[in-house]
Amino acid sequence: MNKVKAAVFASGTGSNFEAMMNCKELACEIVLLVCDNPGASVIEKATDFGVQTFVLNPKAFKDKHVYETEVLQVVRESEVEWIFLAGFMRLVGPTLLNAYQGKILNIHPSLLPAFPGKDAIGQAYRAGVEVTGVTVHYIDEGMDTGPIIAQKQVEVLPEDTEETLKYRIQKVEHELYPEVINQVVRMKRLWPVE
Ligand code: GRF
Repeated sequence: MNKVKAAVFASGTGSNFEAMMNCKELACEIVLLVCDNPGASVIEKATDFGVQTFVLNPKAFKDKHVYETEVLQVVRESEVEWIFLAGFMRLVGPTLLNAYQGKILNIHPSLLPAFPGKDAIGQAYRAGVEVTGVTVHYIDEGMDTGPIIAQKQVEVLPEDTEETLKYRIQKVEHELYPEVINQVVRMKRLWPVE
């Protein structure tokens, strides 16, 4: 049976993209990588996996609507049903949100609503919290807002540096994201329609 198709949107390293690709039991097929950063190493990873890439520079477009219309056309051509943001450093606007309502997930390296935005691991580390973690959530128009689907805690150890904490958080991400994707895709759970 053919799996439902999905796209990953990423701007950077792509370790979460790689984890999804390496997950043999993933309930969907990643058919497309959308990347807004032509220098990102995730592009090379996608090419190695034989995944179609669509790389574009948002600054080359008149505004967000025009840019997202272009993206929308490509995801639709690829028959994408789900979109997974994985280090995509850009707020998704109404053009994509309305077209894929309840079908866009994001992963964030903190226990939201704590430490939204950039450098969440550094924010938590500097705040001196004893526990931080990972959140997978549906997106809405806000920055790291939207209904939370799953969270996993990661303890901050006394001997942790920001680097060692990041390493452990990312290990959790690489397990949690594919797990949650499978739950959501299999249950065909739509938000906000349950
Ligand atoms: C991850 O920590 C993710 O939670 C955050 O951006 C990072 C992306 O890392 N949104 P990678 O590109 O998947 O390695």
